[in-house]
Amino acid sequence: MKNIYITTAIPYVNGAPHLGHAMDYCLADTCARYQKMLGNNVRLQAGTDEHGGKIYQKAKDLDVPVEEYVKENAERFQDFIRQLGVEYTDYVRTTDSDHERRCQEIWNKLKDHIYLEKYEGWYCAGCERFVTDKEYEENHGICPDHQKSYEHLEEENYYLRLSDFKDEIVRAIESGEMEIAPYYRRREILKLIADSPDVSISRPREQLTWGVPVPGDESQVMYVWIDALSNYITVLGYPEKDIADFWPAYAQFVGKDILRFHAIIWPAMLMGLGLPLPRHLISHGMVLADGQKMSKSIGNVVDPVEVLNRHGLDAFRYYFLRHVDTFADADYTAEKFEDAYNNELANDLGNLVQRLATLAKKNNFEMDEVELELPAEYKQLMDSFEFSKAFDYVWDKVQNINRRIDEEKPWSLAKNGESEKLKKCLTGLTNELLTVNMMLAPFLPTASEKIKAIFTNPIEPPEQPLFPKS
Ligand code: MSP
Repeated sequence: MKNIYITTAIPYVNGAPHLGHAMDYCLADTCARYQKMLGNNVRLQAGTDEHGGKIYQKAKDLDVPVEEYVKENAERFQDFIRQLGVEYTDYVRTTDSDHERRCQEIWNKLKDHIYLEKYEGWYCAGCERFVTDKEYEENHGICPDHQKSYEHLEEENYYLRLSDFKDEIVRAIESGEMEIAPYYRRREILKLIADSPDVSISRPREQLTWGVPVPGDESQVMYVWIDALSNYITVLGYPEKDIADFWPAYAQFVGKDILRFHAIIWPAMLMGLGLPLPRHLISHGMVLADGQKMSKSIGNVVDPVEVLNRHGLDAFRYYFLRHVDTFADADYTAEKFEDAYNNELANDLGNLVQRLATLAKKNNFEMDEVELELPAEYKQLMDSFEFSKAFDYVWDKVQNINRRIDEEKPWSLAKNGESEKLKKCLTGLTNELLTVNMMLAPFLPTASEKIKAIFTNPIEPPEQPLFPKS
C-alpha cells in the first residue's frame, strides 16, 4: 500500500462555480478513486483561493464586505465539490489563519532568494499575473483569456530570484523527476522557463490590502499566487508538521491556463524550501462556450448545478470525463450532453444492465464467486492519466457485451433447453459486465454501486431504469 497525495487547483471565489471548474474535481476524484481501488492510501485536497485584487474589486463593486463575500462564495464552492461526489480528505481556505501563518513562515524560509526592487510593467488582473513586455506586444496589450487591457504598474515589489532555480527546474523536467502530462506541454514550459525573468511576489499594501501580509514589512502583501500555491503544503500542516508521508504529491491537477505557475514558480518555491517536486503535473484542457474559454471574467459561464440537476451526478461525470478529452479543449453544448446521456448512458449501459439482469432472473441464474482483474490496457491508460481514453476503452467493452448478447442469443439457448450452454453464456456475460463495472467505478461511482448490487445473487433487475430517457 502506497501513500498517495492528489491535489486540485483552488478556484478564485469571485463568483459562483461554473462548468469549467468541474474539470479539476472530476479528474482528481477519478484518479483518487482509482488509486483507492488499487489499495493505496489516498489524500485528496481541495480548497478556495480567496485573496487578490480581482476578488477584492468584485466585492467592492458589489458593495459587500470582502470577508463576507468570500465566505459566501467559498460555501458555494464547497457545496459544488460535494455535489460532484468528490471524496476529498483535506480542505483549505486561503483566508484561514493557519494557512496565512504558514504562508508567512514559508516566506521567511525563502528569504535568501527574495529581494526588493521596483517593478514597472504590465499586469492582468483576470489572470492575477505580471505580464512581460514581450507578451504585452504579442497580445497587443489585451489578455487573450480575459479580453481586458493589461494594467500598467509602477511599484516597489519583492522578487523571487528564479534564476537560483531555473537550471534545476529544467533538469527535473527533462529527467522526468517531475513529469508533465500531456507530454507535449513540456516543450512549451521549457521555453517559458528559459524566457522567465525573476518573479514579482508581493504588492504594495497601498495598491492592494487583501492578501497575506509580508512578514517584517507592513507596507507589502504577498502576491496571491505565492499564497495560493502554498496551500498544497500548508493544508498538510507544513512547516510545523513533517509532511514526508504524503509529500511529494503524486499528482497535481490544473487547467492548462495555470500550468506555468505550477511548473515554474511552484518548483522554485519547493526547491527554496528544500522540498521535493511533485511527481506529476497534469494539465487538462478548457471547457469552452462557443469556442471561447468559459470564464467568470468573460461572463459566458454555464451554471454547473443546472447541468448536474438535469440527469444527476453520473451523467455529469460521464460527459466531462469521456466527452471532454482529458488534455484538449472541448465545447460544452446542451445538445451534446443530452445525446450522450440518451444514446450512450441510457441505451448502451442502462439497457445492458436491464437486459442481462432480466435474462439472469428469468433463467434462475446464479453467479459463481470470481476474482476480477483489471485489464492491463485500462491500467496503463489510467496510470498515464489518459482518463478520457480509458473511459473510451471501457465503453468499447460495454458495447461489446451488448453485441455478444445479440450474437450468443441466450434466449434461444433457454428455449432449446441447452442449460449447460446457457449457464456458460450467462457466466461469461455477467463476469464481463462486472469487470467493466469495476473499471467504471472511478468514473461513475453511484451507477457502479447500483450495478454491483443488481449483480449480487439473487440477481434482481432494477425496477426503474438506471438512466431514464429524457
Ligand atoms: N486560483 C487559481 C488557482 C490557484 S491553484 C494554487 C485559479 N482559479 S480559477 O478559478 O481561475 O481556476 C480554477 C481551476 O479551474 C483551474 O485549474 C483552471 O484551469 C480551471 N478552469 C477555469 N476555467 C476553466 C474552463 N473553462 N475549463 C476548464 N477548466 C477551467 O486559476
